[in-house]
Amino acid sequence: MSDTENFSDNDESKNDINTEEEDAILFSRNIQIELEKEKSQNPYSAISYEPENLMKFEDIKKLDEKYILNTYARMPVAFAYGSGEFLYDEKGHEYIDFLSGIAVTAMGHAHADLIAALERQADLLWHTSNLFYNQQQALLARALIEISFPGKVFFCNSGTEANEAALKLMLAYGQKYGKEKIIALRNGFHGRTFGAMSLTGQKKIQDGFGPLLDNISYIDPNDIHALDQEFSEDVAGIIMEPILGEGGVYPLTSEFITRARDLCDQNDSLLVLDEVQTGMGRTGNYFAYQEFEIIPDVMTLAKGLGGGFPIGAMIVADRFADVFQSGMHGSTFGGNHLATAVGYEVIRLIEVNKVLENVNNMSAYLAGYLENLRSAYPDKIAQIRGKGLLQGIVLHEGRAARPIVQKALEKHLVIGRSSENVLRLAPPLIVRPRTIDRAMEKLEEVIKEL
Ligand SMILES: Cc1ncc(COP(=O)(O)O)c(C=O)c1O
Repeated sequence: MSDTENFSDNDESKNDINTEEEDAILFSRNIQIELEKEKSQNPYSAISYEPENLMKFEDIKKLDEKYILNTYARMPVAFAYGSGEFLYDEKGHEYIDFLSGIAVTAMGHAHADLIAALERQADLLWHTSNLFYNQQQALLARALIEISFPGKVFFCNSGTEANEAALKLMLAYGQKYGKEKIIALRNGFHGRTFGAMSLTGQKKIQDGFGPLLDNISYIDPNDIHALDQEFSEDVAGIIMEPILGEGGVYPLTSEFITRARDLCDQNDSLLVLDEVQTGMGRTGNYFAYQEFEIIPDVMTLAKGLGGGFPIGAMIVADRFADVFQSGMHGSTFGGNHLATAVGYEVIRLIEVNKVLENVNNMSAYLAGYLENLRSAYPDKIAQIRGKGLLQGIVLHEGRAARPIVQKALEKHLVIGRSSENVLRLAPPLIVRPRTIDRAMEKLEEVIKEL
């Protein structure tokens, strides 16, 4: 049968026998029409950014409950817009943001230069895939190497993907040299995809998803004895966060990190640092490892790298850059033009605005408040720990952090928690002293009322 027999111009039924491609076009047209209809009928259009047209919180909540899978315990607010260190709900109520989207919006919200970089790139080109060379990607990779260590970069879209890449690299390296074991830390957090979850030494994250990778040994953070015991020539690599971000804002000691470096050198194993949360200026250096006299073999990044635009990266030291050969790993979206243009602008802003200096000054300023808080409420606060603008307020055992996070939100202060009894503060890296003053006033009110 020829095409003309089936699809003559005056055959009314021709639209019933579309190719998949034609169906897709029709389907997308129908969606457009539905959206237009919804827009004209509903004054609170979900696709309008006019503040007066924002949806009411209750309506958003209803949609969320009906259509979003129940994987998150949401806080009762939907932010509508942001500026610098502040977030605003749909009624225009201001909140101080001391969480930064979990250590992501490092430059604050709606930074004019980040918007300009995104818009500039959006006008030029969004996406071409990794089949082709990409100027923005190459420039961001060079910038990352300039601020870290000589090596090469693989781009992806999130922290968990960066750690999947690192895991595959450890496995490939191990296979090449006959090394089967990987070491990770108990209470560490590396992500929710399968490999990264296997590396995450937390029962509550892993439960229900076995069988996990069975070549991973977990040791307690800062347990040098266990590190010595577990290491052998059989170790392909060890992965750890310099500060356990989800595991209670728990910093590794210099002794532990340097011992791990030495053991990796002695056993030809890879030292992989997960700086997804600690990287990109959060601790006062570009990367937390820079405080110690070591350089990792592999480092994973995400969060602050895109200032809110999704991007992840793995940096591999030159010595190990040939472990991955063409075809061994990849990503459709990884490092696309938009993400890498924004990532480059984030680094440019950190440089020109001396953001690391601000992190160090503001963290000292914040530390004063936090220590005063601890001495004023010793029955409630056990310890303050962290580095730079990643700070944990450790509550005494039995005091849960979540209700305090909720109380703070009621007072229009956004903070987070890390593990059951640690409050997490991660303000934007551009935070100013007067905003810290206001935030700490609110926090003290909350702690006082406990
Ligand atoms: C240290 C660390 N690694 C990995 C991840 C996972 O990142 P993502 O949620 O972007 O997959 C996180 C997220 O909190 C993290 O803190």
